[in-house]
Amino acid sequence: MQPFIKEEEEYIKSKLVELGYEIKEVVLNVSSRPELGDYQFNGIMGLGKEYHKNPREIGQELVDLIKKDNKYKDINMAGPGFINISFSDEKLIKHANELNDNISINYQIDNPRTIFLDYGGANVAKALHVGHLRSANIGEALKRLAASLGNKAIADAHLGDWGRPIGLVMLELKKEHPDLPYFAENYKGEYPKESPVTNEDLMRMYPIASSKAKEDEEYMNEAREITAKFQSGDRGLIALWNHIMAVSKKDIKDSYDRLNTTFEVWEGESDADKYVPEMIEYLEKKRLVEDSQGARIIEVKEENDDHEVPPLLLVKSNGALSYETTDLACIWERMHKWKPDEIWYLTDSRQALHFEIVFRAAKKAQIVNEDTNLEFIPFGTMNGIDGKPFKTRDGGTMKLDDLLDLATKECEKRILPNISGKERENIANKVGISAVKYADLLPFRLTDYIFDPVKFSDLQGKTGPYLLYSTIRMKSLLSKANEENIAYKKVKVISDEYQRNIMVALLNINNVLLKSFESRSLNDICEHLYKITNIYNNFYYQNRILTETDKDKRETWLTLTKIVYDNNCKMLDILGIEVPDRM
Ligand code: ARG
Repeated sequence: MQPFIKEEEEYIKSKLVELGYEIKEVVLNVSSRPELGDYQFNGIMGLGKEYHKNPREIGQELVDLIKKDNKYKDINMAGPGFINISFSDEKLIKHANELNDNISINYQIDNPRTIFLDYGGANVAKALHVGHLRSANIGEALKRLAASLGNKAIADAHLGDWGRPIGLVMLELKKEHPDLPYFAENYKGEYPKESPVTNEDLMRMYPIASSKAKEDEEYMNEAREITAKFQSGDRGLIALWNHIMAVSKKDIKDSYDRLNTTFEVWEGESDADKYVPEMIEYLEKKRLVEDSQGARIIEVKEENDDHEVPPLLLVKSNGALSYETTDLACIWERMHKWKPDEIWYLTDSRQALHFEIVFRAAKKAQIVNEDTNLEFIPFGTMNGIDGKPFKTRDGGTMKLDDLLDLATKECEKRILPNISGKERENIANKVGISAVKYADLLPFRLTDYIFDPVKFSDLQGKTGPYLLYSTIRMKSLLSKANEENIAYKKVKVISDEYQRNIMVALLNINNVLLKSFESRSLNDICEHLYKITNIYNNFYYQNRILTETDKDKRETWLTLTKIVYDNNCKMLDILGIEVPDRM
């Protein structure tokens, strides 16, 4: 089935053709002046230019022709040629009932693709921090949106599990416990089953090691050495690596779980690394690799570059592999294993050049197909109230869990006093996550925003908690109707403007989804959710739904409540926000 607005757009296009005007596409937008119509079409001015005709003349021809079909409640022209349309009650009722049968009719796309997403990137042995928050929130929501539109979407956690952070922790452990068997040369025995470190140890040791390495050249060299040693497969260090991985991965998983962030694939840089030798052999055979002062590089600059694009450093002069090489090998692996049509990467914009180099090399070397879409999806920064990147009070980087705790505590104050114990904790966490996620997804993706837990948890504002509170209220209204055995099967009448506004807002779902999908930004969905919830609440305050004596009205209102409830649940789910039973 065609989404409602699309169908109308095609109808108007056919009418223009009938009048002799060719137009690429007709786009209907929600009216900026609702007093003139539900939707508006602004393409007439363009046609006027093209056909050297007064646009108002074309507009009038169109209005006159369409009026003959008696299809709309109203169609009129305003200003230089804006066409305003109001839909008939029958049409609105029919559409609402279709949504009532299946809320998913608007969830479709013309060419479904296989999309691979890379929005994890947590580093093993280090705590997740606020920098990982936005990639997780936006990435997870984009994955859910892509999948709900019919694409095949696969996300990979892509753990940073093969680099220096682990070397640093190993070194610090060695300093503290030099006698552990993992560090003994020529040790032939079995290694302990029990991990020598807990996650708390890792969290304590990494910052120590990292600052020592910054201050002390000798220490840094040792860290490089131990990193190179585990990377080349040293038996003891690999046994230790496995322990660190298991401990850290569990902690990372818990943090992502709390954020409702899921990955279909849990691989990491170490998995990509296995493909480096065969990839390098392939690249050498293709004669794409050059020597540069002892290093092996691939040139990727292009003639019309307006900024400098350095070559991809494939193998450093000391034999070590670069971050770029790992990402190129990772594309190699993904193309072989999952054959995606697209790969999307979410990190902050500081990695833009890195991905530009990697993508160019992948295309140049035909590691991907010509039409494979490799896409870098950056985002703005989350700032503190001072407008600078969010920090702890003493200026450090805040751990993700601590940040989520701030929001959760704030939300906890706002939930019902009679909810207690474990349930209270669970609900506070869900509401807290909704506050953080909604605030994170509401601004356009590239826009910076300020982390303000008090504002984010306001039950009255444009916030996650407001949406949850309203959505739960819809659900409890429906439960009460069920308890009182009030049946509601269909939308039957349009009784007032408040109700009509809901039905008009429902028309726009498909457009909102497609817009968010195309811009890779969830802001349109967030705005739509807020708008329809607000419109619903205005209607709710206007009417006493359960005690309404006109049965058709009561049935209609309950059915509409169910449709808006279904819509909200589905959209909140795309945003990765869970709706608790009560709050
Ligand atoms: N681990 C990296 C970091 O914390 C992010 C990884 C992003 N993904 C990628 N394929 N490079 O900065």
